[in-house]
Amino acid sequence: MPSLFEPVQAGDLQLANRIAMAPLTRNRAPDAIPTPLMATYYTQRASAGLLITEATAISPQGQGYADVPGLYGTEQLDGWKRVTSAVHAADGKIVVQLWHVGRISHTDLQPGNAAPVAPSAIRAKAKTVLIKDGVPTYTDTSMPRALDLSELPGIVQDYRHAARNAIACGFDGVEIHGANGYLLDQFLKTGANRRTDDYGGSIRNRARLTLEVVRAIVDEIGGGRTGIRLSPVTPANDIVDDNPQQLFDYLLAQLAPLGLAYVHIVEGATGGPRELPDRPFDYAALKAVYRKAGGKGAWMVNNAYDRPLAEAAVAAGADIVAFGRPFIANPDLVARLEKNAPLNAPDSTTFYGGGAAGYTDYPTLY
Ligand SMILES: Cc1cc2nc3c(=O)[nH]c(=O)nc-3n(C[C@H](O)[C@H](O)[C@H](O)COP(=O)(O)O)c2cc1C
Repeated sequence: MPSLFEPVQAGDLQLANRIAMAPLTRNRAPDAIPTPLMATYYTQRASAGLLITEATAISPQGQGYADVPGLYGTEQLDGWKRVTSAVHAADGKIVVQLWHVGRISHTDLQPGNAAPVAPSAIRAKAKTVLIKDGVPTYTDTSMPRALDLSELPGIVQDYRHAARNAIACGFDGVEIHGANGYLLDQFLKTGANRRTDDYGGSIRNRARLTLEVVRAIVDEIGGGRTGIRLSPVTPANDIVDDNPQQLFDYLLAQLAPLGLAYVHIVEGATGGPRELPDRPFDYAALKAVYRKAGGKGAWMVNNAYDRPLAEAAVAAGADIVAFGRPFIANPDLVARLEKNAPLNAPDSTTFYGGGAAGYTDYPTLY
């Protein structure tokens, strides 16, 4: 039986162990530019088999929170190059999570103070973060406008371009953010998508944009360096679907032939319960659909894992387990799990925004 601490192959990515650092937004990149402190933060955590960066906007329109990084301008790319070279010098592997927030944004964060874009003009009952007079401030998301059909190829192009930029910056690959109620998840799910064109209505139509994005990125950088994150039933950012099992079974069957490095599934409510009584979901059945359709990507699972749960998941056939909050507080999480050492507790008051405190100052065992 494979152990959490043994190497694993995920497409082209050869990982030293089966423990990934989950994507974690930390709002420490003013002007969307990654800082030297971010290079230190990721390098401290480079013993993870795979580091997945915080969500990173593919375009200024894809921005939805104060001080989150981007992957589109010279200064942003130079900042990321510092991060990837530092991580590689520490023998780490790092992919960047490609993000378009869709309706989870605010006019203050959009180019020209425009309305955020979405599949349909339905406002999310969700908050975003602005910085007012230097202080992070939680604010209702703005009313979005529905994207015109003619704008969708441009968004696919932005994803493709961001993936090209990722490779130019030295990333080992990309993770497409298809989870947590952001743009791709908004198109996938009935709660946010009321379109009547080829991108709304049937499951096939709602999955179209995600599949176009994945195919464009695979065409650009190869499937072996491309992963995708999905959250079939999370209520994060006010998202819901009438029939998630059918939706995700279809999507995974379509993804199977694309040769992805990995599929990353958030089980249950992101950062909350793993089981939701009003949103049942059969993850083993989903994985079986993917494998039956020929999908060979590594199967990555996430949400509220600890060592025993992670070992049980690997024993049951998961290839990689992603840890989020434990990695915030434990840069040497892999060593701590391996030794069954106690974990530092994360301080949620320093999750979003700030400097080194609660970011690069958590102690290691040695
Ligand atoms: C501070 C914070 C920031 C997060 N940022 C992201 C993000 O940028 N992208 C994403 O897909 N999920 C994000 N998440 C969700 C985590 O990746 C993960 O799914 C969640 O924390 C559950 O895993 P855990 O129990 O191991 O922490 C974030 C969670 C936290 C606590």
